Amino acid sequence: MKAIRFHQAGGPEVLRIEDVPLGDPGPGEVRIRHTAVALNFRDILVRRGQHAAKLPSGLGTESAGVIEAAGPGVTEFKPGDRVVTVCRPDCAYAEARIAPAARVLKLPDGIDDRTAASMMVRGMTARYLIRETYKVKPGDAIVIHAAAGGVGMIVSQWAKHLGATVIGTVGSDDKEAVARANGCDHVLRYDDFAPKVREITGGKGVPVVYDSVGRVTFEGSLKSLAPRGILASFGESSGDPPPVSVRELGHMGSLFVTHPSLGDYTPTRAELLETVNDLFGVVASGKVKIAVNHSYSLWDVVQAHRDVEGRKTTGSVVLIP
Ligand SMILES: NC(=O)c1ccc[n+]([C@@H]2O[C@H](COP(=O)([O-])OP(=O)(O)OC[C@H]3O[C@@H](n4cnc5c(N)ncnc54)[C@H](OP(=O)(O)O)[C@@H]3O)[C@@H](O)[C@H]2O)c1
Repeated sequence: MKAIRFHQAGGPEVLRIEDVPLGDPGPGEVRIRHTAVALNFRDILVRRGQHAAKLPSGLGTESAGVIEAAGPGVTEFKPGDRVVTVCRPDCAYAEARIAPAARVLKLPDGIDDRTAASMMVRGMTARYLIRETYKVKPGDAIVIHAAAGGVGMIVSQWAKHLGATVIGTVGSDDKEAVARANGCDHVLRYDDFAPKVREITGGKGVPVVYDSVGRVTFEGSLKSLAPRGILASFGESSGDPPPVSVRELGHMGSLFVTHPSLGDYTPTRAELLETVNDLFGVVASGKVKIAVNHSYSLWDVVQAHRDVEGRKTTGSVVLIP
C-alpha cells in the first residue's frame, strides 16, 4: 500500500510517498482501509522533530475507514464496519493501517467519515479540557487561545453551550469572525489580551485559561487567572512556553499549571468510551458543529502541512487517500 513517510525531521518537503507492506492483523488487532485521515497540529511537531519519532517513520494517529480484517480474538468488529481510531504508532497517513481493537470505535450513522476523522483528537481534547481539567460551569468566564483553530472552535462552542462567557484569542481579522461565529463572546489578540481579560471580568480574572499557543501567550495566560485559577497549557503552536517559577505561582494567587495530554485522560477502554460518547452526543445533538473546513488529497500532504503551519486554516483539516 502507499503511505506517507519521512526519513529525517524537517520541513514539509521531508514527507514522501512510499510503498510499504501491510500484513494481516495479529491477535486483538484490526486492519482498517482508510477513507479519511486527520491532519492534527501534533503531526507537524512530530515531522519537525519537536516530538520524538523513531526514524524512518510514518505520520498521523487519527483516521476513519472500514474494517477489512479482524485478527484472532477480536469480537467487537467485523469486515465492513465503519470505524474511527486514534492510536500509535504514527502511521495514519496511509491507504490502510493495522490498529489495536481497543482503540477503535464504531461510527454512528449520523457522523460521516470526514467529520469523524477530523473530530476525534480535537473533540476528545476539548472534552477533557472543559469537563475534567477544569469543569466549566454556567456563569464562568474562560479563555481559549487559537479560538478559530480545530480544538479552539470545539472548546468555544461546547463551553458556550455549558453556559460560560467565552473569551477567545486569534491571530487575524478573518479568524476573529470565525471565532465569534463559533461561540466566542469576546475575541482578543495574543499581544495584549491579559489586561483586556481583567477588564471583561471586572478585575477578577478567569478560573481557567486553555492555552495551546505556548511561548507567546503563556505569561499573559498566567496574568489572566483569578486566584487559584488553572492554566491548562496543552500545546505549543508558537514554541515551548518559558520555565515557571513555582514560588511565582504563589505570588500570582496560588495558581495551578498543568500540561495535560489526551492519552492520560483516556488510558482505559472505559474512559475512552465515556469521552467519545459524550463527544458523539454533543455533535449528534448539534450543540457542537465540527467544521471540516479544509480537505486535501493525502498525496498533497506537503501543501496541507504548509497551510496549517502558515496559519491559513480554521477548524479541522482532513486528508483523503
Ligand atoms: N495536549 C493534548 O492533549 C493535545 C491534543 C490535541 C491538540 N493539542 C494541541 O492543541 C493545539 C491545537 O491543535 P489543532 O490541531 O486544533 O491546531 P489548530 O488550532 O487548528 O492550529 C494551530 C493554530 O495555532 C495558532 N498559532 C499561534 N501561533 C502560531 C504559530 N507560531 N504557528 C502556527 N500556529 C500558530 C494559529 O491560529 P491563529 O492564526 O489564530 O493564531 C493556528 O491556526 C496544537 O498546539 C496541538 O499540538 C494538544
